[in-house]
Amino acid sequence: MTENHETIDALSHENRRFPPSADFSLSAHVSDGGLHDEAAADLEAFWARQASELISWQQPWSKVLEWDLPYAKWFVDGKLNVAENCLDRHVKAGFGDKVAIYWEGEPGDTRTITYAELLAEVEQFSNVLKNLGVTKGDRVNIYLPMVPEAAVAMLACARIGAPHSVVFGGFSSQSLIDRINDAEAKVLITADGGYRRGEVFPLKPAADEAVAQTPSIEHVVVVERGGNEVDMVEGRDHWYHDLMAAADASCPPEAMDSEDLLFLLYTSGTTGKPKGIMHTTGGYLTHVAYTHRNVFDLHRDRDVYWCTADVGWITGHSYIVYGPLANGATQVMYEGVPNHPGNDRFWEIVEKYKVTIFYTAPTAIRTFMKWGADEPAKHDLSSLRLLGTVGEPINPEAWMWYHEHIGGGRCPIVDTWWQTETGGIMISPLPGYTTTKPGSATFALPGVDIAVVDDGGNEVDGGGGYLTLTRPWPGMLRGIWGDPQRFVETYWSRFDGSYFAGDGARLDDDGYLWLLGRVDDVMNVSGHRISTTEVESALVSHPSVAEAAVVGANDPTTGQAIFAYVTLRGGHDVDVATLRDHVAAEIGAIAKPKAIFFTPDLPKTRSGKIMRRLLRDVAEGRNLGDTTTLADASVVDELQRRASEAPSED
Ligand code: WT7
Repeated sequence: MTENHETIDALSHENRRFPPSADFSLSAHVSDGGLHDEAAADLEAFWARQASELISWQQPWSKVLEWDLPYAKWFVDGKLNVAENCLDRHVKAGFGDKVAIYWEGEPGDTRTITYAELLAEVEQFSNVLKNLGVTKGDRVNIYLPMVPEAAVAMLACARIGAPHSVVFGGFSSQSLIDRINDAEAKVLITADGGYRRGEVFPLKPAADEAVAQTPSIEHVVVVERGGNEVDMVEGRDHWYHDLMAAADASCPPEAMDSEDLLFLLYTSGTTGKPKGIMHTTGGYLTHVAYTHRNVFDLHRDRDVYWCTADVGWITGHSYIVYGPLANGATQVMYEGVPNHPGNDRFWEIVEKYKVTIFYTAPTAIRTFMKWGADEPAKHDLSSLRLLGTVGEPINPEAWMWYHEHIGGGRCPIVDTWWQTETGGIMISPLPGYTTTKPGSATFALPGVDIAVVDDGGNEVDGGGGYLTLTRPWPGMLRGIWGDPQRFVETYWSRFDGSYFAGDGARLDDDGYLWLLGRVDDVMNVSGHRISTTEVESALVSHPSVAEAAVVGANDPTTGQAIFAYVTLRGGHDVDVATLRDHVAAEIGAIAKPKAIFFTPDLPKTRSGKIMRRLLRDVAEGRNLGDTTTLADASVVDELQRRASEAPSED
């Protein structure tokens, strides 16, 4: 650590190691350091090889990269169509009868869709969009549950060159209004409703409220799924199945420029108006196909892949729709929640479809820990050969639980770090090559360059600091829709010449990378800068704790004091003093929480991230600010009640 500049103190230690088994490495796409060497020798040549081997181009590029900081163009002058890459070429190569999607509805209804069937549906829906007046460059908004039509709609947009903007079905009409108006979308694709926790949740009424305030929307297409009653406005609203029945079957793919906009995806960040993150065509597809193939070691002839994300998030875009389909994968797509009808629904699905690769979020894993190991034990999970996580730092204990109870001790785990803005995975183990450590995302992938720096931008050779990306990568965001100024300020102004991701990270003595959470969440206790992630991991390493959220609350003596909110594992009990001592023993007395509150649940966003801002408000006794992005608002009422009753300890 450099002396004059502030960094983040690194407190935790983890000595367990998991090398890949000889058996796994034997058939893995990557089992040595060759890719790393190749990328280090010539970054552009490396990505050019990926682009030509993994993607089909209608016209070759004239230049691999044009880099005018912070603006990148990849595969300049290249022409391709993303839907053609995801569908047509597989069908032409003889894989038309291969299953693309095993779809499982929450009530238990199913659909099996082959590549040929998916292509036919996409071509026909492309014609539906054209008939509604959508042309190349027009934006289309998608607000759907997890039904196959979500993928069909996205691919049809890609086929005709109309950028899509998908809004997660759990968002309110107000979120939809803001996003439609910012993108000035012409058509909205929604559903009557979808299934969630055994009930139909209506979407069309929220869409109706939105469309009353979104002048750019000319037509609304409604997929029938929930069977709930909806109002249809004559001339404006149309049933998906009616339009499909009237549309032509064939629609040739549009030749798109490599740098044409493929989609916008809005991310709210910590404050202010959501940002429309722009992703383009050739570089993005190359990045997601490359990472999906190598990080998940996808063998399309034998793998059944399942990513549990919603298509409304970037994970759904990159690792349900574009990456897996570009690689010709067979995948499971599931509509509902993990606990309907029982807490073992996911494991039932893994057993039923013989899933081999399973990708989920740490928040889900900690919930499974809460529910107990008996749930996965009810099912035969022996088909699994690789596990993945994304979205947050994974605590070593959650990693170990996942490894043991889901992976049967035999599956490598890939902890994948990336962001909506990066488009695809940036930091992750390569499962046939990398020796993992529980809780570490390990190393930057071949083709990705990172640096952990201190406050002054100097690279640290060990310890904590800020995670920056030092060279352009193909899947990188190309801007914020309509706000170039904000693009520069948000990502490119903190450290000269680098992209700053907003995350803290630590390099250990072996050069392994440990993500420390958002730097806005770093606490300052008596002048020590402590990462919330490390204290949370220390708490979760106690056998009774399933999940913990830690925040710094203002404190007259120490600047900030550590407040912890803790959820226990099913059937466990432990007292506050024991947990405080446990943290002190794990990472040091400085990190001992001042107060610990037990709670059955933590406040989370709908994508599963803990809302520490709200917990700080609770800890500091403030009125709560905006709670609209909360997945379950009742959690906070309960926390406030407990906070006002429980005394804090010293
Ligand atoms: C932020 C990006 C990337 C798809 C889902 C989230 C956190 C993501 C990890 C990981 C530690 C992680 C970071 C990042 N994050 N993956 N493996 N370890 N933190 O996308 O909503 O754009 O959020 O998620 O803080 O900056 P997103």
